[in-house]
Amino acid sequence: MKPTRILFVCLGNICRSPLAEGVMRAVAERAGHGDAILVDSAGTGDWHVGDPPDRRSIAIAKAYGIDIANFRGRQVAAADFDAFDMVLGMDGRNVCDLRERMPAAAHKVHLFMEYAMDRDDDVPDPYYEAEEAFERLYQMLEAGCSSLLAKLGRAS
Ligand code: 4NP
Repeated sequence: MKPTRILFVCLGNICRSPLAEGVMRAVAERAGHGDAILVDSAGTGDWHVGDPPDRRSIAIAKAYGIDIANFRGRQVAAADFDAFDMVLGMDGRNVCDLRERMPAAAHKVHLFMEYAMDRDDDVPDPYYEAEEAFERLYQMLEAGCSSLLAKLGRAS
């Protein structure tokens, strides 16, 4: 069966979406469903193109056995809306920006927590927050990714 192709998108592609990418891959692999998905991440902005993830995202991922240190930031591109089955924005602003950028593919764009967990919640931007925010971010992403994996299983 063809894997479901998922693109996680935030603003900078250094804090939330690379962590979501790493967590989603780990959750799927640990459940024995690594082949069921293809994941990537990108930012709506271009400030961090080519940069590694924020050190706090690298550290929290590492604490949970996930290595995202080699990821590099990139900006979402028009081709992504063809290349992925779903484009999941971390917050409402990401979702608006994505739909505005590619109105024809608006049906592929969803708010991550809403799509994954039926919860109308943003994954808050932790960039200007203290270290603790990254533990909360990790827990939120793990819950969301686990729920998303279960949802994909039911859909197939
Ligand atoms: P992210 O966090 O969208 O989760 O990667 C941010 C990273 C950088 C900036 C904003 C948010 N920034 O303004 O540079």
